[in-house]
Amino acid sequence: MILRYLTGKSCKPLFIGGDSTDVLKDFPDTCVDMVMTSPPYWCQREYENRDGIGLESCYAEYIDRLMAVFNEVYRILKPSGSFWLNIGDTYANKTLMGIPWRIAIKLCDEQGWILRNDVIWNKVKGAPDNSGDKLRNVYENLFHFVKTRKYYYDVSMIRKNPQKAKIQNGAVVSATGVTGVRYKRQIELSTALTEDQKSNALAALEDVLNQMKEGKLGDFRMIIRGQQRTTHSDSSRVSGRAKELETKGFYFLKYHPDGAKLGDVWDIIPEDSQKRKTHFAPYPSDLCRTPVLTTCPPDGLVLDPFCGTGTTMEVAYENNRKSIGIDIAQSYLSLAKERFDRPVDGRRSSEPASATSELANAGTQRPRKTDERKMLNEPRQGTLWKLLEAK
Ligand SMILES: C[S@@+](CC[C@H](N)C(=O)[O-])C[C@H]1O[C@@H](n2cnc3c(N)ncnc32)[C@H](O)[C@@H]1O
Repeated sequence: MILRYLTGKSCKPLFIGGDSTDVLKDFPDTCVDMVMTSPPYWCQREYENRDGIGLESCYAEYIDRLMAVFNEVYRILKPSGSFWLNIGDTYANKTLMGIPWRIAIKLCDEQGWILRNDVIWNKVKGAPDNSGDKLRNVYENLFHFVKTRKYYYDVSMIRKNPQKAKIQNGAVVSATGVTGVRYKRQIELSTALTEDQKSNALAALEDVLNQMKEGKLGDFRMIIRGQQRTTHSDSSRVSGRAKELETKGFYFLKYHPDGAKLGDVWDIIPEDSQKRKTHFAPYPSDLCRTPVLTTCPPDGLVLDPFCGTGTTMEVAYENNRKSIGIDIAQSYLSLAKERFDRPVDGRRSSEPASATSELANAGTQRPRKTDERKMLNEPRQGTLWKLLEAK
């Protein structure tokens, strides 16, 4: 069934009802490009199916059950693949348990995952907290794991505010107005550089200005010994840049012409609790969008082994990626299915795939090919970028 879905043309999700620990065993090795999921948190909610993960009396047992699922995730993920795990923490006996990090460390130590990012999902509003002796919690972790050192990553999807250099009166001027004239004078008048270092610095500066002219750089800063401070540390033992400054007398900070990369704190307002029907914990589509667009290739396959209402699947579908969603609760799968009954891009989508182990319709009309980068910069909900821009 999974192989048939993989070879079909439709991006319409395949939903499978069952316990992920068992269902994933039927998947062939290395068939999935990207996994994005939010498993039930420990002792936080009782979902519809009481056999589901999350109600264990001891946190170690909860973690072991999740580890069994993630072990299968490791097996079925391609070597170029990514695994994004959103997980929240829990208090027990007044102690914050550190569940997300206990799991992250176990995944690295026991299953061989490489942890690339710990994104802080700042929920901006957060839930009310009536305790009188601690802060209100407003964030959750979103970990990005990979299997190998070289993996699929479309970095152009996380750049924003392109910074282009321009030519003014025949001279190149960086996005923030740097022309190199001041650096040139500082080098020529320097008493901290040798004559050799001065001529090397001037040649390197000329080279950087040419790179800006050719559009390969948007902006730069030059750090010259005796003029500017090193950016991280003065110790050449711990900082490569301090070492460069000591040996060469200068170094550059270069800025990509396509803009700065998105950082690892994301301000995203959670799904409106008033709109939640029978599921308590759907995550917002904005949380999935960046992971899907950066780490799943356009014709790739996304998996969510705890798919709930199918948010991950919806984002994958909107962006022309195939996806498989698994959930132990049939009623959540029905809610997920409903999302694909709604019109997509002004057209009514055809019949959704069955909520129980059934194939998506082959040949279903695909949504209009979206300008993916534009979608990230201008998401329809807009919360992430709008909030970032408001800062
Ligand atoms: C936090 S919710 C996921 C919400 C989802 N991200 C969304 O946007 O709707 C976790 C889901 O895991 C499901 N679940 C719990 N144990 C499971 C298991 N062993 N196998 C598959 N699904 C399970 C629950 O039914 C619940 O829907």
